[in-house]
Amino acid sequence: MSTSKLHRQLLEKIEKGLQDLLLPDDPQTLYQPFRYALDVGGKRIRPLLTCLACGICGGDTEDALPAALAVEILHNFTLVHDDIMDSAETRRGEPSVYKKWNENIAILSGDVMFADAYRQLAAYGQNDAFTKQEYTALHDVFSEAVITVCEGQALDMEFVNRTSVSHNEYIRMIAGKTAALLSASLEMGAIAAHASPQMREELAELGHEMGIAFQIQDDLLDAVADPEKFGKKPGGDIYEGKKTYLTILALERADEDQKRFIQSVLDAQDPTQEEVEKVLSLMGSLNVLDDVAAETDQHYQKALNLLQSFDSSEYQQELKNLLIFLRNRDH
Ligand code: IPE
Ligand code: IPE
Ligand code: MG
Ligand code: MG
Ligand code: MG
Repeated sequence: MSTSKLHRQLLEKIEKGLQDLLLPDDPQTLYQPFRYALDVGGKRIRPLLTCLACGICGGDTEDALPAALAVEILHNFTLVHDDIMDSAETRRGEPSVYKKWNENIAILSGDVMFADAYRQLAAYGQNDAFTKQEYTALHDVFSEAVITVCEGQALDMEFVNRTSVSHNEYIRMIAGKTAALLSASLEMGAIAAHASPQMREELAELGHEMGIAFQIQDDLLDAVADPEKFGKKPGGDIYEGKKTYLTILALERADEDQKRFIQSVLDAQDPTQEEVEKVLSLMGSLNVLDDVAAETDQHYQKALNLLQSFDSSEYQQELKNLLIFLRNRDH
């Protein structure tokens, strides 16, 4: 990722904030997985967004820190539960929490992470610099994001059992499961800077576009990334029968025979590696991979355009760098 001084400083603060969380030692089966989920790394995009949005709106990034920690803890909680739902055995190149411990432990440590994420927001209630309205707004934006993520995750699972999913339905699903939290991360940073409703809205919209791009790209990387770097099982979405942007486009473009084959692999309980690879190669020959990459680019471009309306500052420049880094990411 870009390594500007500002970027490094913000990342250091975020890492320190996560390290300094006071987690009890006991019960071990509750707090060790919590610590593991946070320590096993990650790009920390969401807390960076919160800090950058605060800076873009002229605030003190110190004020964004509790919200930044809240969104990162919440994000990690969603991953702990998501890996159970997706039967995903690896995350960031390491065993996922339910695999390292077990499902019950992953459910419960996820629950405590969820509560801890909310607990971070209490800092704003105790800080006189924040009005009651701002404190309430932070809670509302966060809660709405949580609910929207759950709706997106529910659709993601429902779509596995559907033969066809439209483009619009897919966008609604990813707007929920992924874009909602990116959008809230930015909006909460704006609130932490006491920004105007208009700035809040513009940043939320930017986060939405960025989130759509980010998830379409995640679907693409699931199919084509180097597993060493990506840290997740290659073709994992196909094994799980997920309706991703790739499978939706492939099913639209395939002839009847190809369609039957793709559908049978998606429906199979345990498809072979050879079958999954054949679906991937069909996606290549149907030009799906190139078009998905182009769609990703378009959404990143929309986010970059929205960023232009903000005054130029080191924070605005850093968000631009982050968007460009993500557009070119391979993990
Ligand atoms: C993974 O998010 C989940 C998705 C929304 C695709 P990230 O790719 O931001 O995960 P980490 O935290 O960097 O591992
Ligand atoms: C993740 O979507 C969305 C949430 C965790 C809320 P995915 O299931 O595609 O994410 P990865 O690929 O497991 O990171
Ligand atoms: Mg999932
Ligand atoms: Mg998953
Ligand atoms: Mg994925």
